[in-house]
Amino acid sequence: MKTLIEPFKIKMVEHIKQTTEEERIEFLKEAHYNVFLIKAENILIDFLTDSGTGAMSDKQWAAIMIGDEAYAGSKSFFHFEETVKHIMGFKHIIPTHQGRAAERILFDIALGHKKGKTIPNNTHFDTTRANIEYHDAEAVDLVIPEGRIPECDHPFKGNMDLEKLEAFLEKNRENIPLGMMTITNNSGGGQPVSMENIRETSRLYGKYNIPFFLDCCRFAENAYFIQQREKGYENKTILEIAQETFSYADGCTMSAKKDGMVNIGGFLAMNDDDMAMRARNMLILTEGFPSYGGLAGRDLEALAVGLKEVMDESYLQYRVRTAEYMGERLLGEGISIIRPTGGHAVYIDAKAFYPHIPPSRYPGQVLVCELYKNGGIRGVEIGSIMFGKRNNATGEETPATMELVRLAFPRRTYTQSHFDYAIEVIINTFKERDKTRGLKITWQPPFLRHFTAHLEPV
Ligand code: F0G
Repeated sequence: MKTLIEPFKIKMVEHIKQTTEEERIEFLKEAHYNVFLIKAENILIDFLTDSGTGAMSDKQWAAIMIGDEAYAGSKSFFHFEETVKHIMGFKHIIPTHQGRAAERILFDIALGHKKGKTIPNNTHFDTTRANIEYHDAEAVDLVIPEGRIPECDHPFKGNMDLEKLEAFLEKNRENIPLGMMTITNNSGGGQPVSMENIRETSRLYGKYNIPFFLDCCRFAENAYFIQQREKGYENKTILEIAQETFSYADGCTMSAKKDGMVNIGGFLAMNDDDMAMRARNMLILTEGFPSYGGLAGRDLEALAVGLKEVMDESYLQYRVRTAEYMGERLLGEGISIIRPTGGHAVYIDAKAFYPHIPPSRYPGQVLVCELYKNGGIRGVEIGSIMFGKRNNATGEETPATMELVRLAFPRRTYTQSHFDYAIEVIINTFKERDKTRGLKITWQPPFLRHFTAHLEPV
């Protein structure tokens, strides 16, 4: 088979610092075994997130130089708006500084703080859920059952459970100001949603007169999976698939830090005139004038270029294949991961990796710390530290359903040898698994503890 190469060459390089294992042991201690508290300069390969961490192209850097910084009516805004309209077709395009700002504005105008409202999704991302709950509403996940089983192979594990959705809409129709769908389904492993499922979800929301919003930050990766896996789409372009996807929705929230290929940016888009007017009023209050949102003109210019570049098939093939390649190598060594691999990350099942470490001793966090100690690699725990429920009065904890470690891949940033190196580190860590002990929390804040909690080995 032909070797698949990175579809770019490197014009500018950034040095990464090698550290010794002794140094990393010290850095881990100083950071209280929480890799969010390690200085990035002491990380060799950073797989913490794919959000805003990628490399821009020469064309995007060139676009930065022609950014129009006019406060109102900037040329760069119109370039950005025209690009988004071409791909997504929505009538109103409202720039924001990142995805969660779009979410906050959307839920502010759709929910207010009226009690008893609820918003369904395949799986809400954390910031989406937090923004809904902040507005006193309930965020409900209705992904298909296969989407919750790590080892279950399914081409579209991000699909909505349509039967559950219909029953849910029937029961709660009065209290659902809008319905959502996240593509790809990040919290379920970066798993795609099929076009058929998007169409049917749209039909159901339509039947109950509920506006349909896509959380579409990885829309191009989702379109690539549709092209590769869904009958009838093999000869369509990514742009055509994206256009069809958005044609079923009434609006979207977008974190452009993912498939916008930029380091900062986002937007909210919709067809409804009244809703858009209210969104722009909110925007002015916190983000800025409607022709820049929370961004500089140069950011909008780079984003307009990034949205086109992300739909390049050779780029998407290399991107999806990278995760698949790492997944195959790990599975070959008997390491359990969420299968199949999704678009932007590989998720290791830490419960299976360390069967002797109970959830109360945080096997996911243990693996995150071991990968850093052994190879300077930073991943993130998605398990009981992030999602375990703690009774603040008694200190009692209910563990999360899964103990995962996510290795998320910045776009166009690391080469195949970086991945080969990371695979080696994971395999060596697996060989030493019996010697590894658990962790306990020594200090934690009242919420979102994974960012700042302190831990120590038991
Ligand atoms: N929706 C999804 C599906 C996301 O993955 C994210 C961010 C957001 C919304 C929020 O966007 O960060 O621009 O405010 N995900 C990042 C991650 C942080 O690491 O997965 P934001």
